[in-house]
Amino acid sequence: MPAYDNPLVAELETVRTQALGELDTMSDLTDLDAWRIQYLGRRGALTQVMRGIGQLPPQQRPEVGQVSNDVKAILEAAFDNRVDVLKQKRLATTLAQEQLDVTLPGFPVSLGRLHPTTQILREITGIFADMGFQVYDSREVESDLYNFELLNIPPYHPARDMWDTFYINERVVLRTHTSPGQIRAMQAFHPDPIRVILPGMCYRYEQVTSRHEMMFTQVEGLAVGENITMADLKGVLENFARRLFGDNRRMRFRCSHFPFTEPSVEVDMDCFLCNGEGTGCSICKESGWLEILGAGMVHPQVLRNGGYDPAVYSGFAFGMGPERITMLKYGIDDIRLFFSNDLRFLEQFS
Ligand code: DAH
Repeated sequence: MPAYDNPLVAELETVRTQALGELDTMSDLTDLDAWRIQYLGRRGALTQVMRGIGQLPPQQRPEVGQVSNDVKAILEAAFDNRVDVLKQKRLATTLAQEQLDVTLPGFPVSLGRLHPTTQILREITGIFADMGFQVYDSREVESDLYNFELLNIPPYHPARDMWDTFYINERVVLRTHTSPGQIRAMQAFHPDPIRVILPGMCYRYEQVTSRHEMMFTQVEGLAVGENITMADLKGVLENFARRLFGDNRRMRFRCSHFPFTEPSVEVDMDCFLCNGEGTGCSICKESGWLEILGAGMVHPQVLRNGGYDPAVYSGFAFGMGPERITMLKYGIDDIRLFFSNDLRFLEQFS
């Protein structure tokens, strides 16, 4: 060890050598922290040495201050450097341990699927497409004129009670059924023959219950041409029901009334759960029959409103609710499930 005139400078040199020596052997970040406190902390070795400065002759004091600053700077730099080295080392080992193992199975990707209503709509459009029906998109916000008047439902007519309506204003409504699309399709196609279905959302001002929603889908059907008869309507609907519900299904046409068809029918299918037996069946409420749609021959005035001469042309129309049909098909007892986005429900329709 070199001889120093100044005893505190000698001490500082000792501290420096000792601190640097210890630092070199350290491999742990928490040890490093202890080291920093021991040498550079407020009560650390450097400060301790400086405490003796008062005992020195005044001419020796500046040198101590100078050397102490130098040693402090050296120790701080060495400390930072050591921290860096250790961090790098740690990073290198973690990376080595975490090497990508390409043989591990991947994370499962959760696939979305089509909503049950979309699925049934696709099935329905597919069946009607096979019978030559095109899809015609009509608007959801309708005028009173199309939603009611051109369908033979004048203002204040009691028939309006069949549709609890959301009025935007006196002349504009959210369509309560897809039937106004009949007029729009006729006006777009006349005088050509028509075979279209009109799927889409409808809205009614309903008290929401397990059987009624404020919004739901409907699929309207319309065929207009020369010599179209009720036999065509029966044939088309029977083919449809058999393809959707099964080959051996029976259908029943019941007389009914709609302002825009004449004659009008409601169509029932024999209950697929009890095979039409009825006894004890919860789906058909023991009647053996399930109502699936309304239909009829297009009323002459409605044909006229669409631009067709009823003396030359005739047509049939029908309207059904896909949610209701899905409920029948799968025994679902609450229509609200279709709009509640509950995965436990939706995942059953993959
Ligand atoms: N629009 C009727 C409703 O929502 C359903 C309907 C009945 C449509 C008979 C038709 C039809 O095209 O011919 O209650």
